[in-house]
Amino acid sequence: MQDLLNIKAVRDSFIESLNNAKTLQELDEIRVKFTGKKGDLTLLLRSLGKLPPEERKETGQELNKLRDEIEYSLTQAGKKIRDFENEKQEINERIDVTLPERGRLSGAFHPVLQTMHEIADIMQGLGYSVATGPEKEEDFYNFECLNVPSWHPARDMQDTFYFADGTLLRTHTSPVQVRAMLEYGAPLRIICPGKVYRRDNDVTHSPMFNQMEGLLVDKNVSFSIMKGTMTEMLNAFFGKSLKSRFRASYFPFTEPSMELDIECVECSGNDPHCRVCHGTGWLEVAGMGMVHPNVIRAGKIDPDKYNGFAFGIGLDRMAMLKYGIGDLRLLFDGNISYFLSGFDSKEGGKKC
Ligand code: DAH
Repeated sequence: MQDLLNIKAVRDSFIESLNNAKTLQELDEIRVKFTGKKGDLTLLLRSLGKLPPEERKETGQELNKLRDEIEYSLTQAGKKIRDFENEKQEINERIDVTLPERGRLSGAFHPVLQTMHEIADIMQGLGYSVATGPEKEEDFYNFECLNVPSWHPARDMQDTFYFADGTLLRTHTSPVQVRAMLEYGAPLRIICPGKVYRRDNDVTHSPMFNQMEGLLVDKNVSFSIMKGTMTEMLNAFFGKSLKSRFRASYFPFTEPSMELDIECVECSGNDPHCRVCHGTGWLEVAGMGMVHPNVIRAGKIDPDKYNGFAFGIGLDRMAMLKYGIGDLRLLFDGNISYFLSGFDSKEGGKKC
């Protein structure tokens, strides 16, 4: 009788433990607690021999029943826990194909390259072809044939990176003028966009920057054709008709020489504190002039039959003006977050 009571207590304790078990490890612990070497059920089974013979059979049957029940329940509970965990894992790992995709950044042209393409496109519309020349250039094309001999003080205008062999990094795109004349002859209309290099590095200068050269050689080229071409190009680029002025200047390779200013794209001359034109109302955008006869001659074209005009535009400056980029260095430091965020309002920028 005493043993039957014990059997009931062990059974109740097993059921309670089983109901609380949540993991396979807990089930294992229960298995050890009841059916292990020193388990509650094992001890009862071992004590069978001490019972009076008439009780042994019935108690033995009860204990065997309980052992079967414990084993069955543990197996079932283990299966249940395993199924539940599998299902949980499946849910966690399930791929929801209906979810929207993660945003992807699309590539875009650098603002300077974009500017280069836009101006090239406009100039091609005016009949100009794109010419190229080397960035590692010979002194002859960069200076000598552009009417800047080695003793000429104008060499100081462009502080130059020289190589040991006397070649240099071109300081402007102008060397392509004579290269193109020698290659194609007259008449000629070319532009040459590209990188140029000078020993300059401060807030408004970078040792590498971008220019676009333009050259037209033909018969009876007039100053007004040059003015018309430049005005046309700038209006098309900025998408509005801007006031412009041509200021007398000096370049050794043109005579007469001019600098072209356009009305401030930011304030149109109405803001005395404008951060772009500093209140002057004007922005310098290009150097130009009628090609010097010596340069035409260096291109093996007869200056008595042909003349022409040439211009050089700073592409970085044009990009900054069009896209409202306040600091030249932003164009070169590779931090695209500035452009992706639509430009820092401190810089007063516009999105490109
Ligand atoms: N090469 C000049 C510079 O880098 C710009 C320039 C001025 C180019 C006048 C020209 C020109 O073709 O005619 O400062």
